[in-house]
Amino acid sequence: MRIEIEIERSCPGEGEKPHFETYRVEVPHHTTVLDALIAIKNQEDGSVTFRRSCRSAICGSCAMRINGRSGLACDTLAIKELERHGRIRVQPLANLPVLRDLAIELTPFWQRIRAVEPWVNNRVEPEWPVERETLMPQEAAEEMDDTSRCIMCMSCYSACEVAHVDGGFLGPAALAKAYRVVADPRDTNPVGRLVQLAQSGGYWDCTRCNQCVEACPKDVKPMEAIVNLRREAIEARLPPTIGSKHITDFIAIVKQEGRLNEGRMPAKMKGYNPFALLPVVPLAIRMFKKGKLPIPWHWPIPGVNQVRRILARKGGARRKGFKSGAGERK
Ligand code: FES
Repeated sequence: MRIEIEIERSCPGEGEKPHFETYRVEVPHHTTVLDALIAIKNQEDGSVTFRRSCRSAICGSCAMRINGRSGLACDTLAIKELERHGRIRVQPLANLPVLRDLAIELTPFWQRIRAVEPWVNNRVEPEWPVERETLMPQEAAEEMDDTSRCIMCMSCYSACEVAHVDGGFLGPAALAKAYRVVADPRDTNPVGRLVQLAQSGGYWDCTRCNQCVEACPKDVKPMEAIVNLRREAIEARLPPTIGSKHITDFIAIVKQEGRLNEGRMPAKMKGYNPFALLPVVPLAIRMFKKGKLPIPWHWPIPGVNQVRRILARKGGARRKGFKSGAGERK
């Protein structure tokens, strides 16, 4: 079949601005977007630039935006894209500088991965022979199973709404890697990691838009890993942040009243201090004018005890067995 592909081409280093060029190429019916690009490069224009290696959704090299969605070109059927969108338009990953055409600069991404130190720090008994194994409980291995699947293709980082507006954000892949180590019972410094990653750019900055989960070709679920980091931070009783206070105060109000009381949230978070509440006054006035200011006083809903029981059960059932045992030396 003959298909048409629009490729965003540019070369910032040579002053070439982004623009689309359209190529037509003859391909087999079930070709992937990557194979179509390879055909274009081989038959039409050898200067079209993109990365690829395994062609089997393993190495992560061929990630790009296809019809606006970040993902692997070797894992995307051209025919499906045509059926869904009526065209195939490919662009480089977002949130990273472009080198040429579909090839992006990798350094900023790897700097973020390195910043979370995604390796187990396991300095115990100096006399222990390094060649001996350190085993971990099966349930702990299962806990980190999702994050271990990451192939670091950067699709999640490209799809991340926070990375788009905040260049200091570590991003979904790096934070998922961080959780992989925090959850590892062999690591000797999980709380230190949680403290470090609670800073600006860390797990509290995620807006939970779920775009990273949608984009990930390996079902790593980075957002869930970020939520788990937050949960660990709260359970470790780290100094409260705006993010952690929002969660704990939210739950406290739901426990008391059986539902969220938005009118009480600012006062609960700021500690009923009139001066601390001043910054939210303009917003409250605007909401009042639009008839949207929630009333801060109301009675608990009927059946509030059922809500309390659900919350108590949910807390108790959380990840039974996680961190139930430290790494075991063999
Ligand atoms: S070429 Fe390796 S993941 Fe696509």
